Amino acid sequence: MDQSDVAGDLADILLTEEQLGTRLDEMAAQIDADYAGKDLLLVGVLKGAVMVMADLSRRLHHPVEMDWMAVSSYGSGTRSSGVVRILKDLDSDLSGRNVLIAEDIIDSGLTLSWLVQNLRSRGPASVEIATMLRKPEAAKVDVDVRYVGFDIPNEFVVGYGLDYAEKYRNLPFIGTLAPHVYS
Ligand code: IMP
Ligand code: MG
Repeated sequence: MDQSDVAGDLADILLTEEQLGTRLDEMAAQIDADYAGKDLLLVGVLKGAVMVMADLSRRLHHPVEMDWMAVSSYGSGTRSSGVVRILKDLDSDLSGRNVLIAEDIIDSGLTLSWLVQNLRSRGPASVEIATMLRKPEAAKVDVDVRYVGFDIPNEFVVGYGLDYAEKYRNLPFIGTLAPHVYS
């Protein structure tokens, strides 16, 4: 899917496919260095993190295992509440593992902050976060994030895994939507 397929729906392109790729190269190199000689379990949060997980993991030279979680944050529309429900739990036992959560975006931070606490309670050796995007101005709780792709303004974005009403996840870049899409 490309820009021309959704041309009328987009207001702006915030990050191109190339920009995302270049940053992922850097993040992967840092992760390779940080986890050298250590076991590493990547945990992806469905559905938004699918692209980050696929593209980041393929750039790593480090052998990894991958597991997936699906959580739902109670809240209306585009706001999250911090009350989280597990829709699909991990298959893996985390005891003694080095866990790296792969995420699409940290907005309020409420979902991730809950998730990190939840995973830490399962006895892992470490739990860190790698996120493609972060909105510093939207933060409601402090989340300690080891790897951040880009800090972006407090705007609703789509593409590269991120949806609006389940659409636009398969855009290879990150963009903002034209106002008429929301109404
Ligand atoms: P948080 O709990 O507010 O940090 O965000 C939880 C989830 O809300 C993210 O994992 C995304 O799935 C979704 N989300 C937050 N901001 C955006 C956005 O700008 N576009 C699409 N989804 C978003
Ligand atoms: Mg998400």
